[in-house]
Amino acid sequence: MSVTSIAAARRARPTSPKVSKTPGSLVHRKVEFDWSQTPLEWIPGSPFASHFINEINLLLPAGEFWFCKIYNKALPYITDEKLKADVQMFVRQEAMHARAHGAAIVEYLNAHGIETKSNTRQEDWLFESLLSDEPMGIKLPKFAQKEWLVFRLGIVAAIEHMTCVLGNYVLRNTSWDEAGADPVLLDLLRWHGAEEVEHRCVAFDVYRHLGGGYASRYYLASIAMPAVYGLWVHGAAHLMKQDERFKAKKPSVFKPWIWMQWMREVKTGHLPSPFWLALKELPFFSPWYDPVKEGSTEEALAYLNSSPAAARAAAMA
Ligand SMILES: [Fe+2]
Ligand SMILES: [Fe+2]
Repeated sequence: MSVTSIAAARRARPTSPKVSKTPGSLVHRKVEFDWSQTPLEWIPGSPFASHFINEINLLLPAGEFWFCKIYNKALPYITDEKLKADVQMFVRQEAMHARAHGAAIVEYLNAHGIETKSNTRQEDWLFESLLSDEPMGIKLPKFAQKEWLVFRLGIVAAIEHMTCVLGNYVLRNTSWDEAGADPVLLDLLRWHGAEEVEHRCVAFDVYRHLGGGYASRYYLASIAMPAVYGLWVHGAAHLMKQDERFKAKKPSVFKPWIWMQWMREVKTGHLPSPFWLALKELPFFSPWYDPVKEGSTEEALAYLNSSPAAARAAAMA
């Protein structure tokens, strides 16, 4: 073969796809929230939507600390330097999210007399026992440990698609501002949502890099997505039971009232429709799913650069 034909063959060889699809470099941001003035009904006139979104504070911390644990476990298997750096920043961002929502539980919900323990106990069991390295206390044989890790990374990839969808929703929903919603809670939602959009590719990139395939992604998402929404409604019902206005309805995830009321609240613009959410989950089921297309890094950074909580943390440093 001549020198020119070797050069031509090299040019024609398909380049391997990039392992990390995250545009640019992720950044760890500190934030500080002052919960002293935030009312429980943080969207004035909308107690249902206020409780429904407040449940996010209870749902997230245990799950996000669990993300940190399993991504630290995945790090030694990652051979791509850019993806490694993405994961390190992803872990730091998720840990900050968990701490911020954890502080909201104590300084905001508990300070208003809301009982949260019975709810967070369930999340702790799910992430610290059922989905831990030793599920329900069962020590896995060596050969199964990596499989179990990739299985759990697939669950996180599905959840991270959902958090990106919700991130877009909170960044773009102006109905809360129009209703005079509490600015601190809005900032918590938008700062977190913006970082979810910013790091939307990481979990999916890691899942694929460690050998996660399409079929398992499909069935894991089919389980994880309804489970997360079920837990969300279950937790929101627990908060509503503590509100005199809803007590008589005996709110429960298994009763139609909460689902019907959710649909009624959609008309106010303060909550996303469950059907819209289901529709937004569909791209993840496509074999051509590309998280880059699911959000705008520029839009996320525009919010992050103006977040009052980030400015407050910088001023306190
Ligand atoms: Fe997060
Ligand atoms: Fe995330």
